[in-house]
Amino acid sequence: MPVFSTLAELRGDPILGLSAQFREDSRGEKIDLGVGVYRSEGGETPIMEAVREATALLTQQETTKAYLPPSGTPRFQSVVARLVLGSENSVLASGRVTTLQSVGGSGALHVGARLIATRAPDAVVWIGNPTWANHAHLLGSAGVRLKEYPYYDSTTHSLDFDGLCKALATAFAGDVVLLHGCCHNPSGADLSLSQWHTLTELVSNRKLVPFIDIAYLGLGMGIDEDAAGLRHMAENVPEMLIAVSFSKNFGLYRERAGALIAVTEKPSTAKVVASHLGSIARGVYSMPPAHGCALVETILHSNELTSLWQRELGDMRERINGLRSSLAASLGTATNKRDFTYLEDRLGMFCYLGLPVDAVTRLRKEHAIYMVDSSRINVAGINQHNLPRLVEALVAVL
Ligand code: LMR
Repeated sequence: MPVFSTLAELRGDPILGLSAQFREDSRGEKIDLGVGVYRSEGGETPIMEAVREATALLTQQETTKAYLPPSGTPRFQSVVARLVLGSENSVLASGRVTTLQSVGGSGALHVGARLIATRAPDAVVWIGNPTWANHAHLLGSAGVRLKEYPYYDSTTHSLDFDGLCKALATAFAGDVVLLHGCCHNPSGADLSLSQWHTLTELVSNRKLVPFIDIAYLGLGMGIDEDAAGLRHMAENVPEMLIAVSFSKNFGLYRERAGALIAVTEKPSTAKVVASHLGSIARGVYSMPPAHGCALVETILHSNELTSLWQRELGDMRERINGLRSSLAASLGTATNKRDFTYLEDRLGMFCYLGLPVDAVTRLRKEHAIYMVDSSRINVAGINQHNLPRLVEALVAVL
């Protein structure tokens, strides 16, 4: 019997499947609050001006399309490590860092997970409940064993820090803990700086390895504020992995630009880890794509373009934060009894509305409003035009 004939069709991805349904919906007034892609007031996902200018520069300056090395270019690696860790970070000065140019943040997560699966096969990777819907798939398909720690309590609409610490207190030395650097996806409920400090002590005492996914750097409170927790951790633990994405903060979604940063105990180990990461990348996709990362590199190497990029990123951040406040206020007024203020202290693109799945289904079927079944919304999908209709529909299904 031919192999393919034995296969059963898979259900669509919980996030990308929703985008496909949205595209097929012919209703004119549909609202997409599903996939985490930034949208302007007009509903577009624009190319950032800094990216346009960097593209023009690159077109003039680029001299070849020859392969990159599996770990990417040293210029990109150093500028990214400084952006994420902060140029003053002591781990950089001591040479305890190596960076791999990756195929988006997802590629970084997968390569990091392969490093664990093949070089530390006894380690369990602890992921939050909830976490990004694709984390288990990306990490699990690399061969690691997964366990969950509680992260968010949907009854109190708050981070379950006690539950998280209790679960991690049962982890074994060498286990890996996946954390969101900022703008938690899906809840938008972030660790405070003092919780980062507590967690740093916990992972150090239990000899756990933090693996930080920072896909939304700059979209919460600002670049330095969003990175403060992971920077503190990097300075105070012997080993750590950081998966970086430039999809959201540079708007480079389809270019697949990202990086995997490894912090090592000794400078000499950084070189060894670099050789393993390069070898894993070679065994999965050979070499990274160049264009998206070259744009990031061009922007971060120019003071002028960096300032422009930071201004644009700040505008995106403020728009999202403003929309979240408008939504909380409008819902509070429209329902006259329910408290939606918890939406306001969320950070980044996402938050939970706290709806049961049948309400989410009704929103989709009766009102052409799309969100993930968990009632996670992409706040950037809201605008002044669709907000009243969204609120009306939410009141109807509450
Ligand atoms: C999301 O969570 O919606 C984004 O990270 C896009 C994706 O690939 O799932």
